[in-house]
Amino acid sequence: MLLLAIETTCDETGAAVLEGASPDSPDALTAVPTIRSSVVASQIAIHKRFGGVVPEIAAREHVRQVLPVIDEALRQAGVTLGQIGAVAVATRPGLVGALVVGLTAAKSLAWALGVPLVAVDHLEGHLYACQLAHPDRSVYPCVGLVVSGGHSSLYACRGPIEAELLGGTVDDAAGEAFDKVASLLALGYPGGPGVERAARSGNPKAFAFPRAFLHDDRLAFSFSGLKTAVLYALKGQDARTTGVAPPPELVADLAASFQEAVVDIFVSKAARALDRTGYSRLGIGGGVAVNGRFRSKVEAMAAGRGVELFLPPPSLCTDNAAMSGVAFAKLAAGQVAGLDVDVTPGLVRPGR
Ligand code: KG4
Ligand code: ZN
Repeated sequence: MLLLAIETTCDETGAAVLEGASPDSPDALTAVPTIRSSVVASQIAIHKRFGGVVPEIAAREHVRQVLPVIDEALRQAGVTLGQIGAVAVATRPGLVGALVVGLTAAKSLAWALGVPLVAVDHLEGHLYACQLAHPDRSVYPCVGLVVSGGHSSLYACRGPIEAELLGGTVDDAAGEAFDKVASLLALGYPGGPGVERAARSGNPKAFAFPRAFLHDDRLAFSFSGLKTAVLYALKGQDARTTGVAPPPELVADLAASFQEAVVDIFVSKAARALDRTGYSRLGIGGGVAVNGRFRSKVEAMAAGRGVELFLPPPSLCTDNAAMSGVAFAKLAAGQVAGLDVDVTPGLVRPGR
């Protein structure tokens, strides 16, 4: 069966065609779909000059992009709308105006084609990217770590649509912290890639930045103190150096020390979640998982503990529609959405 998936939760318009088992086939619950096409139109160039995503502009841009992106995904997959057996869309969490655009397109198509509509949780999708990237291995049960622009959360995942939230951030998300520190250090938007680039020539031990809750049993994250520590290290407690461009070596050391603190926090909390659950698999999703330092430290941790690690390639870490292929598991479980389904901008516990 062919599935058309649509993604408009934030600032990427995505559409993908996936081929998987039909819901009534015996292996429907476990079969892993294949990605026939995945198209992403990024709005980064538009939001760049504002230093962050402007929700209203994001929504308007999705309106412009959603149909051409769907057309392109169908074209690349070599299929027509008439061959589509179900339509999936991420309905939560995200920016309300952005979510509404994808949902409206998905509802219209599902209704016009007379096929089921599946409402997907974007965070379940980020974790399902692990399964799409490794179709020959079972990802579940696993500890799921989502490190994205909007979320930093740990889950106990018994299956693709059975995730229990173990803990999240009490303030900023990881990607948000990267973006804010990048703005402080004038490293561009989005911040993650700029910080990583600058960090390459810096010393990760130059600044002993705080690692919130590191020795705390709670599976919680906090990045606001770390951000403030970078600010003070850059400008001094009284901001006396405001207006003076910092030397590049200082920027590199700050970027490297900040990145190291974030990576240490995630690696240590993921290890704690593995201990807590007793699971021997770790699945990771979200844009921050593109970070090379993060990837190598989490790989070392997993190897040291004999834990099976699932780390999708960068194109499946950042926002895309293919990860909403988790809809096949939902269809197999009979979770079809009505045409009255609405968006849920705030975080909800996956599986609910
Ligand atoms: O998952 P994603 O594409 O969107 C959300 O669902 O939020 O994540 C975007 C976030 C941005 O905050 C961006 O700065 C961060 O991922 N990011 C990175 C890197 N590449 C993207 N963070 C650290 N290092 C990177 N190389
Ligand atoms: Zn995302």
